[in-house]
Amino acid sequence: MTATQPQTRRPHRAVGPVDGKLLRNVCGLFVTGVTVITSGTGEEASGATVNSFTSVSLDPSLVLFCLHKDSRLRQVVEETGAYAVNFLTGRQEQVAWAFAGRQTATLQSVDHHLSATGVPVLSQAMAFLSCRLVNAFEGGDHTIFVGEVVELGLPCADQEPLIFFRGSMGSLEEEQRGTHPIFDG
Ligand SMILES: Cc1cc2nc3c(=O)[nH]c(=O)nc-3n(C[C@H](O)[C@H](O)[C@H](O)COP(=O)(O)O)c2cc1C
Repeated sequence: MTATQPQTRRPHRAVGPVDGKLLRNVCGLFVTGVTVITSGTGEEASGATVNSFTSVSLDPSLVLFCLHKDSRLRQVVEETGAYAVNFLTGRQEQVAWAFAGRQTATLQSVDHHLSATGVPVLSQAMAFLSCRLVNAFEGGDHTIFVGEVVELGLPCADQEPLIFFRGSMGSLEEEQRGTHPIFDG
């Protein structure tokens, strides 16, 4: 078969109303980093693991993330008017899972300190962005929170990032070894 002949293998396609589980699985092929969003002060401080983080604008400095409307963190972010985005390192997979359950970990159980907006940031994160909430948009079953970055820090920038792909987490180094054997040896 020459390169110009049409391929006989049909790609998987779905047209029309898209099943939510299928959409999640397909979106899971888009590799992302992993963050924990922290918000609240004192006893109210809490966090949730989120991979829907995106940088939006450099001037002004805006970022966003999407949070499920049922998430307990939603009200905390709205009431605090601030949040921090903590980029996790490959060593923080347990932290990611701890903040991803219905019974999420408390901020007291992880090493943290207060940022310029008054919300906690994870002291072992690769980097953090502390943001003032400037806008919230409806996005179906999620809310899109837009924040202006007022402080940033790089506590552990020398480490590998934690990444999310096909429902699994691992450090960037591990994923490369596992999925690209051509690089072995
Ligand atoms: C890798 C990963 C990424 C996630 N990304 C998001 C996200 O972008 N938005 C969201 O609402 N939930 C996301 N979740 C699920 C939340 O972490 C989880 O629903 C939440 O922390 C559970 O507590 P809650 O129900 O009070 O929010 C993600 C989970 C994992 C493991």
